[in-house]
Amino acid sequence: RLCATQEQPLLGQHWVITAGPTREAIDPVRYISNHSSGKMGYAIAAQAVAAGASVSLISGPVNLAPPQGCELIAVESAQQMHQAALTLAPKANVFVACAAVADYRLAKVADQKMKKTPGQDELTLTLVKNPDIVADVAKLADKPFTVGFAAETQDVEQYAKDKLARKGLDLIAANNVAIEGQGFNSDQNALTVYSANNAFDLPLGNKSAVAKQLIEIIARHFDES
Ligand code: CTP
Ligand code: CA
Repeated sequence: RLCATQEQPLLGQHWVITAGPTREAIDPVRYISNHSSGKMGYAIAAQAVAAGASVSLISGPVNLAPPQGCELIAVESAQQMHQAALTLAPKANVFVACAAVADYRLAKVADQKMKKTPGQDELTLTLVKNPDIVADVAKLADKPFTVGFAAETQDVEQYAKDKLARKGLDLIAANNVAIEGQGFNSDQNALTVYSANNAFDLPLGNKSAVAKQLIEIIARHFDES
């Protein structure tokens, strides 16, 4: 393992980061997704590279250039992201789940473009639950230090702490996406990071500044783990 320095505190560490939305196909021309821009995950990847880490960025479809110096694994669906994560995580020191994974996918993807049925004004799609990527990483025997995100619109602290415990995470970064100008698609974010016993407030700032502070909190807890 390379030796960490003051400028490159993460030298010798391998970080795996998920980012962006996932796309769940309905048929060859349609999908279900969400408004995640990928900006927060990409900012974390860029700051982790700057701090000396070797970074694998598993990304859903986004309109962002991959940060210089990281390995990009481009995926579309939650199942593809799950497979990439479970392949890379056992060798990682730190896993950061920033992706907005679709909770459900189509039970059956149509092989041909779906056509409107004359006289039928309603359409019901049957969805099945996707695997929980970060929870499965945290269950690995050789689990990396595992960090989740929680984007909530209400009862942020309670839901975040519940996810921390339920998914077996080491840290969770929570943000209130009901507040205008932070979270989805914004260039700014504000986070509260929870460990089992502590809370750290990262006030509203550019996503790169917030990412840098988040990485410092992760690195400190990882070193102590
Ligand atoms: N996550 C994941 N795989 C999933 C769903 C979520 O890895 N299938 C991760 C996200 O990347 C995030 C954390 O779990 O780090 C919390 O995601 P969130 O959507 O807030 O939690 P859910 O468990 O899906 O609960 P809900 O959407 O019902 O609030
Ligand atoms: Ca979810």
